[in-house]
Parts: sequence; structure tokens; C-alpha cells
Amino acid sequence: MSEITYVNGRYIPTGEASVNVEDRGYQFSDGVYEVIAVSDFRLVDFKPHLRRLGRSLSNLDIEWPCSERVLKIVLTQLIKRNRLRNGIVYLQITRGVAPRNHAFPIEKIRSSLVVTVSRSGRPSAQKFTEGVKVVTMPENRWGRRDIKSVSLLPNVLAKQFAVQNGAFETWFVDDEQTITEGSSTNAWIVLAGQEVVTRPLGNDILAGITRMKLIELAKAGNIRITERPFTVDEAINAEEAFITSTTSFVMPVVDIDGKQVGTGKPGSVTNNLLTLYREHFSGSEEV
Ligand SMILES: Cc1ncc(COP(=O)(O)O)c(C=O)c1O
Repeated sequence: MSEITYVNGRYIPTGEASVNVEDRGYQFSDGVYEVIAVSDFRLVDFKPHLRRLGRSLSNLDIEWPCSERVLKIVLTQLIKRNRLRNGIVYLQITRGVAPRNHAFPIEKIRSSLVVTVSRSGRPSAQKFTEGVKVVTMPENRWGRRDIKSVSLLPNVLAKQFAVQNGAFETWFVDDEQTITEGSSTNAWIVLAGQEVVTRPLGNDILAGITRMKLIELAKAGNIRITERPFTVDEAINAEEAFITSTTSFVMPVVDIDGKQVGTGKPGSVTNNLLTLYREHFSGSEEV
């Protein structure tokens, strides 16, 4: 079955779907995106994803391409048309099409909406049971990493750096030697006394929806969470480490820059959190 993509009002076979060459997303990466998981035909954590999308759009002064109600219909339609039981929905909104000029167009233009689906991309079961490696590199992104912008070049290069070094992810390290986040994940460590630590929200990281959900689940399960920056040294000497994202869930990290973390195997706190998250993920209610 050929996959169906949504482009500005039309459902089109993906191979035939295209955007205008003067779309500002294409020319300036002047746009934002969301990746939402689909579990058993259901959008996982749809409302928080929509809220974050709204924040990204308003921070960049980009108009909604349609109402939130219509957007939900588009996503639901696309899941149906693609018979997407499990996978992800990728949605991208750009400022729209205009003759190339750095400044925003003076005439009001319609923002562009593209939605695609994917069935693949989930890490293998082995990665969850064995854990993954991460490497680090200096933070080199812009100062508004809280906006989920399609300007992902430093993130692309960071992920490639991981691949080239046999790792799953790269953690960015700022001037204070603290870890901001991964190229497409949030970063966490577990210290003695089962204290779970992750960086607080701010302009320097993306407010991950998985991060938010996990904090809620941990609190409900009486697991202590501290939101503060942590250094590379602290992470290497931690009992456990892990990363979170819509596609990686709660992924144990067992090696940082070639140095073993804890026992070198996924730890019990991480596994506990993964179980809590999986239960939430496959739960049947609309969230
Ligand atoms: C830079 C960055 N940080 C964190 C995340 C995790 O966010 P979420 O849990 O919403 O997938 C992502 C996801 O793409 C990301 O790109």
C-alpha cells in the first residue's frame, strides 16, 4: 500500500506529494514541527503536543494553518487512510510561500501544513534490554532550543557524530560542562538514593513531552525527581542514565564517551520508569 501524505488540504500518495520551491520552510527552515506517536490507532499525548506546537508557532509569529479541531481531523484521517495502527505522525507547519526575502512577507500569507506518517523508527527490543551508548560534543545550537523549529542542522550533525562513533545519541555539553540534552532526546541520570535528575525547562532545551509525562508518572509513583543541570562527570559517575523521547521512550544509557555507567547494564530505576511509561503509552484513553 502506498502511503498517503497530507499537503495543504489534500491527501496525496507520498511519492507524488510536493511543496512549492518558494516555501519558506524549504528556503529558510522558517517553520516548526511535532512528532506524535500512534499506539493502536490512537494519538499519544495529543493535547500536550498541540500545546507545544501552539507555543512554537506563537514564538515565531507563524499563523495556525487551520483550527486545532481541523488539525485533529487531518491527523485522524491520515491514520485511517494509512491504516496506521502503530507508528508516528510527523507534522510540519511553515510560514508559507512567498518570493524569497529574509524578512516576513508584508502581505498576509497562509502557513503551509504537511503531515506524513511512518511505521518504522522504534528502537529494537535489544536496545532496551542492553542499553545504548552516548557520546558528547560542545553545544553549538541557537539560544531558543525550546522552540521546536525545523532548523535542525546542528542536531543532524550531532546525530551523525553519534552514528560515526558507534553510539545511539550525542549529548550537547554547554560552557559550564553541563549536559543540555541530546540531538533528539532529553537527558537524565539516576544518583545514589534513587534520585532522578534532569535539566530544568528553559530556553536551552526542548520541553520534551515524554519528559513531562515521565515526571508526572514518577511523582505519582513516589519516585524522587530533581530538576537541575548536571555535568558530564556526574553523568559518568551516576548509578544509571537514560534518555527520553517520543520515539525512544525511556532508553537506558550504559556508556558515555566510552566510559561505563553504573554496572554497564540498564538499572532498576530506569527499567521501572520505562514500565510506567509503556503502561501510559499503551493505555486506551485519549490524552
Ligand atoms: C532536541 C530534542 N530534545 C528532546 C526531544 C524529546 O521530545 P519529545 O519527548 O517531545 O519527543 C526531542 C524530540 O524530537 C528533540 O528533538
